[in-house]
Amino acid sequence: MTLAELMAQGCQMLQSSAVALGQGTLEMADEAAWLILWRLGLPLDTDPQLHGESLSAAQIESCLALLRQRIDQRQPSAYLTREAWLQGVDFYVDERSIVPRSLIAEVLALQSIDHFMPETPRRILDLCTGNGSLAVLAAMAYPDALIEGSDISTDALAVARINGERHGLSHRIEWRAVAGLAPPLGQYDLILCNPPYVNEHSMQQLPPEFLAEPRLALAGGHDGMDFVRPLLAGAHRHLSPHGVLVLEIGHERDHFDAAFPWLSPIGLSTSAGDDQVLLLDQQQLKQAPC
Ligand SMILES: C[S@@+](CC[C@H](N)C(=O)[O-])C[C@H]1O[C@@H](n2cnc3c(N)ncnc32)[C@H](O)[C@@H]1O
Repeated sequence: MTLAELMAQGCQMLQSSAVALGQGTLEMADEAAWLILWRLGLPLDTDPQLHGESLSAAQIESCLALLRQRIDQRQPSAYLTREAWLQGVDFYVDERSIVPRSLIAEVLALQSIDHFMPETPRRILDLCTGNGSLAVLAAMAYPDALIEGSDISTDALAVARINGERHGLSHRIEWRAVAGLAPPLGQYDLILCNPPYVNEHSMQQLPPEFLAEPRLALAGGHDGMDFVRPLLAGAHRHLSPHGVLVLEIGHERDHFDAAFPWLSPIGLSTSAGDDQVLLLDQQQLKQAPC
């Protein structure tokens, strides 16, 4: 059996078991390729058509066993491989933190936030940093900035620290165990935040792969806005006068608009549309009646 044939079989296995995607891949073929290439120790961009030689029986059995584990346990692939990729950057991940997949990574790569800041940010906070992926990507995007990554979960911060070290950025990122926006957090030119925002109804519909992630990382209360309410009430005090908040809200735009009718956020363009990552500046946040 060749690599291409094994990948086709793996895709078929995943398809017929209806595993959930969305934690690193959006296609069954990509999910199968990820697991198989990882198990074979091959780079993720390996072209199976150019990899013509037959695989050994042991290699095939080992890959099939991993695919069966993915299907039987309904664990995210990233928890099985202990690795996830975001914007081409590799991150360590385990059950202590959510699998990195924030759309904010796209706006960092596209540099679309820069149009809304008069100067390159010098102090950046990744609020709700989890695995630390956005803090690491921000440190890469803004090489002269000091970065802080904060989270209420010391478990998640342990994963974030591994990622800071993995990319040689420990000297530029301070990790802080803190709930929401509270001391010792200071004032920033840019706050990135991918908070827990899944509403209660959606939480009840989540497939097992997503229930395997820390509930604290996902659940945002009845309308998904439990974390966002105090954040928007206090964010202006933690932003410099020209500072901006970039907030991911996923599919919760209707709930966001209902909760904050006085705000007119700018929707940043991402592969998932223009209404899942919002930008708010300090001046607008200061006027919020909350
Ligand atoms: C959706 S995850 C985002 C993780 C990471 N930034 C990412 O994009 O992959 C949300 C994170 O918020 C953290 N969190 C939940 N409630 C919090 C609170 N009150 N204060 C600070 N962090 C909180 C969770 O521990 C979790 O790591």
